[in-house]
Amino acid sequence: MAARVIDGKAIAQKILDEVAAGVKSLSPKPCLAIVLVGNNPASQSYVKKKGEMCEKVGIVSRNVFLPENAAQAEIEKQVEMLNSDPRVHAILVQLPLPPHVNEPDVLERVNAKKDVDGFSFVNSGKLFAGVPTIAPCTPRGIIHMLKESGVRIAGKHAVVIGRSNIVGKPLAMLLLQENATVTICHSCTKNLAEITRTADILVAAAGKPKLVKAEMVKEGAAVIDVGTTRGADGKLVGDVDFEGASMKASLISPVPGGVGPLTVAMLMKNTLECYENCTGSRRLTGIRRGSRAVMIGNREGARGKISSAAYAEDDEIGKKK
Ligand code: GUN
Repeated sequence: MAARVIDGKAIAQKILDEVAAGVKSLSPKPCLAIVLVGNNPASQSYVKKKGEMCEKVGIVSRNVFLPENAAQAEIEKQVEMLNSDPRVHAILVQLPLPPHVNEPDVLERVNAKKDVDGFSFVNSGKLFAGVPTIAPCTPRGIIHMLKESGVRIAGKHAVVIGRSNIVGKPLAMLLLQENATVTICHSCTKNLAEITRTADILVAAAGKPKLVKAEMVKEGAAVIDVGTTRGADGKLVGDVDFEGASMKASLISPVPGGVGPLTVAMLMKNTLECYENCTGSRRLTGIRRGSRAVMIGNREGARGKISSAAYAEDDEIGKKK
């Protein structure tokens, strides 16, 4: 039987409605600053979409456009200015940056409280440690999409194809926090198909059009496609051969209309979280600080009892979830 197709737009709209309702009563309005360096057409298009969505939900957006040859120091200076501007609550540096730029150094400059992407070392470190933090938008959107579609993640084998800092690695951490058994595959993985065929949840985030064929999908799996390669005809092509894979999967996300809308919606939600960070306001996003949902297996670890946390995880093996 053909898989159920996830309606990413509908799921995203619910989030956007919540954000718009939350923003309504706020003064000043949350402000997201977007830094774009250079003329990458895909990045320009994403930045435009993000700005348009801000307007729809009542978030103020501010663009900082820098030329392709902008110096490292100039980019970092702009980020510092946004850090110290009290009118700006959230900062996004659109990636990729031009090849001459040291990307981690720029991302590290973003104040952790305003780090709407969760890419700073502080926030990615917190994600790794299972401490509540702002999580990257696409991985957060994927987890939300799975839950909204009725997928129970705990105990499942989740296979992520791709190890980028934007999707693969943070998604693996979030899936682990949801008690999945996680495998990350990448360009050097041997026997990729053998591994993907064991996946209850298969996420393709490799940037390789139609990499995942029907024979790589386990019967009944949930398949999430993060690929967004633009074909010669200008249309977006995913990492999954949709026609083939949907004959094996029980649930599948399309491209376009799947993960993309969730990413933008989560960016809006993360902007509200940054606003909370900056203004001290609470309960806009429904996030309970210190909630169990964002902690890895051992709850003690997140509160600082790190020495035992390294071993206590094993105690959980075999326990009924
Ligand atoms: N480029 C592609 N995806 C993303 C994203 O989620 N955030 C940023 N900042 N840049 C990107």
